[in-house]
Amino acid sequence: MAHFLDLNDAGADAIAAMLNDAMDRKAARAGLPRGAPDADAPLKGHVLALVFEKNSTRTRVSFDIAMRQLGGSVLLLDSTSSQLGRGETIADTARVLSRMVDGIMLRTDDHAKITEMAAHASVPVINGLTDRSHPCQIVADLLTMIEHGKSLPGLEVAWFGDGNNVLHSILEAAGLFKFNVRVATPAGYEPDAEFVEMARSGGAIITLTQDAAKAASGADVLVTDTWVSMGQAHAEEKLAAMAPYQVNSALMAHAKSDAIFLHCLPAHVGDEVSMEVFEGAQSVVFDEAENRIHAQKSVLLWAFGKLAV
Ligand code: CP
Ligand code: NVA
Repeated sequence: MAHFLDLNDAGADAIAAMLNDAMDRKAARAGLPRGAPDADAPLKGHVLALVFEKNSTRTRVSFDIAMRQLGGSVLLLDSTSSQLGRGETIADTARVLSRMVDGIMLRTDDHAKITEMAAHASVPVINGLTDRSHPCQIVADLLTMIEHGKSLPGLEVAWFGDGNNVLHSILEAAGLFKFNVRVATPAGYEPDAEFVEMARSGGAIITLTQDAAKAASGADVLVTDTWVSMGQAHAEEKLAAMAPYQVNSALMAHAKSDAIFLHCLPAHVGDEVSMEVFEGAQSVVFDEAENRIHAQKSVLLWAFGKLAV
């Protein structure tokens, strides 16, 4: 068993194995009802606790459906109805859940809480988003890029807007798979230097710029996310600073003609992305959303020690 708090916990070889497994499983179950198990039901009898301290649609549904397809099941806890909301410690929660379930997915505000959960759990802990990173999203994003014909080494990925948790995991992936990232943000909203350094030390070329058109020029993949992440204040000053970083047709025109547009969702159409791009032919955001299921099945198999690497 292994924790999946960030992409580096698995590393490039295991993530490559996850992507291959995800593509194979996705193809093999074509035509089955969504809740029907894969033929081998590799996690039969396993229960995953889904613990949410923040809202979710995709993460919640995709982990539930992923576990059903692997032959297992989930149970759901949130901070308002569990004892976490009344101050029971993460450490005690980790030890109790480890006696009752086979694995834990946690979505939380503070990344320190998930490292605390992992330190005290004797079952795999999976990061379903923290303020620092969103690794499961990026496994799905890599799968989506590959499915759309993009080969990762040397790929030019461009990010626009806020230097947030999703960007951090993209940078981590860039270091592992040697693709390049042009990061266009307003001053003061750059990603944490730790992730930029991590990517560069892995061999990725990372460009930080305040010029959105420059970042888009010749890009293969354009990515954005909400300008205000969960738990952040809706500051008018921030929204004003973000306005020049909207992904719209004028910006897409700088990219390669076969470039794709990714967004982890939920989207705020009219803010970080224009309607014409979001609904346009280059947008693959709903493939990306579906791929959360397929990618996470392979993350789960890896965490449960059932994926050959
Ligand atoms: N992309 C993503 O994690 O979506 P949810 O917040 O709906 O889970
Ligand atoms: N950056 C966003 C991602 C949501 C899936 C947030 O943290 O709210």
